[in-house]
Amino acid sequence: MEGGCAFADGGFVPLSEAKISLFDWGFTRSDATYDVVSVWQGAFFRLDAHLERFMASMAALRMQIPYDKAALRSIVHGCVRASGLQSAYVALVCTRGVPAPGVRDPRLAQNRFYAYAIPYVWIANPEKQKQGLDLYISQRTRIPASSVDPRIKNYHWLDLVQSLFEAYDGGHDTSCVLDANGHIAEGPGFNLFMVKQGVVYTPDSGVLQGISRQTVLELCARQGLSTSLEPLPMAALRAADEVFITSTAGGVMPVSRLDGQTLPHFPGPVTQRLHAAYWALHDEPGMRDPVDYKD
Ligand SMILES: Cc1ncc(COP(=O)(O)O)c(C=O)c1O
Repeated sequence: MEGGCAFADGGFVPLSEAKISLFDWGFTRSDATYDVVSVWQGAFFRLDAHLERFMASMAALRMQIPYDKAALRSIVHGCVRASGLQSAYVALVCTRGVPAPGVRDPRLAQNRFYAYAIPYVWIANPEKQKQGLDLYISQRTRIPASSVDPRIKNYHWLDLVQSLFEAYDGGHDTSCVLDANGHIAEGPGFNLFMVKQGVVYTPDSGVLQGISRQTVLELCARQGLSTSLEPLPMAALRAADEVFITSTAGGVMPVSRLDGQTLPHFPGPVTQRLHAAYWALHDEPGMRDPVDYKD
């Protein structure tokens, strides 16, 4: 299973054999939750935090699977071991499952669990990070938190995907959307930060509580950088000194332009500091969960 491995219906399979039913509500209704954790140079990064978030998401959606945290840990380790990947994107997915014919009651579904490890994914690879991202601010509203709680990691991505098309149409690299109050929310697969006069800001609500976002907040505390979690008006973002995004798929990634307009500081000193600290943290024993690649 070199290059990738999945866990489906209770066993490890090559990626090409990993399938879900056409009738799984995870597919027909986006009735699913998931999490993504990275493996960097042979070790999971903050695996426990990702497993905790995944289990909290499942509980919030009233999903149950026959695996506890230790079993999930061993499954994702198994996927990476079988793939042989030293740096990987590892997904855990729980779907509502396949109803019996004619059944519409979600309580009757048997929830299903899948996992897979594929090569590490970058929202912006190191080459792109040198230029910085051109972030398009879409006027589209993220599905409101009163409809779908964004803290439950979900596949309700049509708003994000539509904003990406708008970004690409205008020649930008990626996009972000607004929250129900018209403030900056998040983007397709990432949280957003801005720096103004040395203070690091990120939206307080209406977004996924990203593990990378949490990591950056902890790094700010360690480094004595002031942070503020508060609504981010669009005008504040446009007037920022520095902007960066955070994701398991790439860590801390600098933004150099907003809607094509160059930001005053790129590469920004605070972003550079946090970028370096984020990758240095991968060597700290408490953050690493090394993969045993031996058979
Ligand atoms: C909508 C959304 N926001 C934020 C993030 C970043 O979360 P994390 O740092 O845990 O990868 C993701 C990750 O996929 C996401 O899908």
